[in-house]
Amino acid sequence: MARFSVTTPLYYVNARPHIGSAYTTMAADALARFARLRGDQVLLVTGTDEHGQKIQRTAQERGVAPQVHCDEMVREFQALWEKLNIRWQRFSRTTDPRHGVIVREFFQKVWERGDIYLHQQQGWYCVACEEFKDERELLPGQFCPLHPHLQVEWRDEPNYFFRLSRYQAQLEDLYQSQPDFIQPETRRNEVLKFVSQGLADFSISRLHLDWGFPVPVDPNQVIYVWFDALLGYVTALLEVEEEPSLAQAVKTWWPVDVHLIGKDILRFHAVYWPAMLLSAELPLPKRIFAHGFLTKDGQKMSKSLGNIIDPFYLVAEYGSDALRYYFLKEIELGKDGDFNEERFIQTVNADLANDLGNLLNRTLKLVHKYCDGKVPPVNVLPDDPLRLLGQDLGAQVAEAYQHFALHRACGLPLALAQRANKWIDEQAPWQLAKTGAQADLEAVLYRLLEAVRLAAYLLSPVIPQTSTRIYQQLGYEVDFDQDPPSDYDRHGRWGALPVGQPVAQPEPVFARIGIPKVIKS
Ligand code: MSP
Repeated sequence: MARFSVTTPLYYVNARPHIGSAYTTMAADALARFARLRGDQVLLVTGTDEHGQKIQRTAQERGVAPQVHCDEMVREFQALWEKLNIRWQRFSRTTDPRHGVIVREFFQKVWERGDIYLHQQQGWYCVACEEFKDERELLPGQFCPLHPHLQVEWRDEPNYFFRLSRYQAQLEDLYQSQPDFIQPETRRNEVLKFVSQGLADFSISRLHLDWGFPVPVDPNQVIYVWFDALLGYVTALLEVEEEPSLAQAVKTWWPVDVHLIGKDILRFHAVYWPAMLLSAELPLPKRIFAHGFLTKDGQKMSKSLGNIIDPFYLVAEYGSDALRYYFLKEIELGKDGDFNEERFIQTVNADLANDLGNLLNRTLKLVHKYCDGKVPPVNVLPDDPLRLLGQDLGAQVAEAYQHFALHRACGLPLALAQRANKWIDEQAPWQLAKTGAQADLEAVLYRLLEAVRLAAYLLSPVIPQTSTRIYQQLGYEVDFDQDPPSDYDRHGRWGALPVGQPVAQPEPVFARIGIPKVIKS
């Protein structure tokens, strides 16, 4: 059985999850669900990044112990994933003691390779990024370009350094020999440019911090949060009862197929992480895909601007299918994209309530009226535009998923539903009934039912609940959340709807969203 594995970033628990974290996770879930439809064995890894100064400070400010703070935040993340209908298999927490074992073992390996050395670290540190910044990057007044409200802090301390510079040539070879390692192309170019300027070693420990794993060779220091967190992807692969060791962790699922991340953490994933793995002589992940940023009404979302969208509010108000659909269809994964409430409502109403929902509704009514409530015979039709559109759709959608083109994976099935809606009016089945052209009437209704079925099946990784309702009304006993029909070669193909199958009475599959609501932050 083929396997597919995808990771989301391990989210910082300095605050409750926001729509940015939800965005990556929804995209990863759609990729995972699609692989499941194809019959793959699937592993979706998500989790939380809990160490480091940022988290320690947040807990201090709240007056709670860091672990207590982390546990609280983890509950928030898990609750949101449940509401957004995310089916993860592994939730990796970097404060898990088993993770500590993996981090120590990894550190030891890299140490033995001679890739770690003590050196004086001087530089400007952004606690929010958990990263040293180049003086040239800073905004006037020593502000971080990614956190313009936060001043960077000067550090001058002995730290352990990782010999990144040693891996320059190997990394360059990697990017050349595997051009799809970093996607999309713009991000790949960014990395190529960065690496071509020459790689500097980076510090992987911190003095004067206790919220982290101690450096095995020097208990006065803790391991740098990124060195620790990236390994969370590996720890996640351990089975529940398994003794933690690197060998066990990488046995079955490593290397993963894709790390899905946002563009701000590309360097860590596409440069530092492969170099760390090369040093420890472990295989590299197959792909890194970096998506863009979400903006709100054209402005970057940020806490200081006060325009953060609360995903808990959105999902409570509109439901998970609507959110998943909007963010995945309307924003090309890889590009920045905007959330505008009015457009959101218009889009989901037009696509899900009208194009899909009404198509099913209208067609089922006709089937009850003229075909005894059963899927009619296929019959022959000389002019068959829906079959023409539908026959390659499964392959096209599969290709879109392969290229992480989720907007296309949504747009293609929707286009079939749209064509079908036009076609009802062109064919006017009610006229065919009047003139007694029963064979043509049946042929038209079969194609309409099949169009809505195929669209629902191919959209099910994104809108599993709506697809389930459609499939059930078409007479299937199917739940896309529990047990999706995974024989893609049959269900993903035009013509799978069994003739004679009794269909249900139509009921709305997606409730139209009425009055525009005010988004609270
Ligand atoms: N803890 C690190 C990741 C470690 S992975 C081993 C981290 N966490 S984060 O919570 O700050 O960010 C997680 C992800 O959310 C990143 O991929 C980031 O790009 C994404 N987003 C944060 N804000 C975002 C938007 N406004 N829009 C889209 N995604 C953004 O970085």
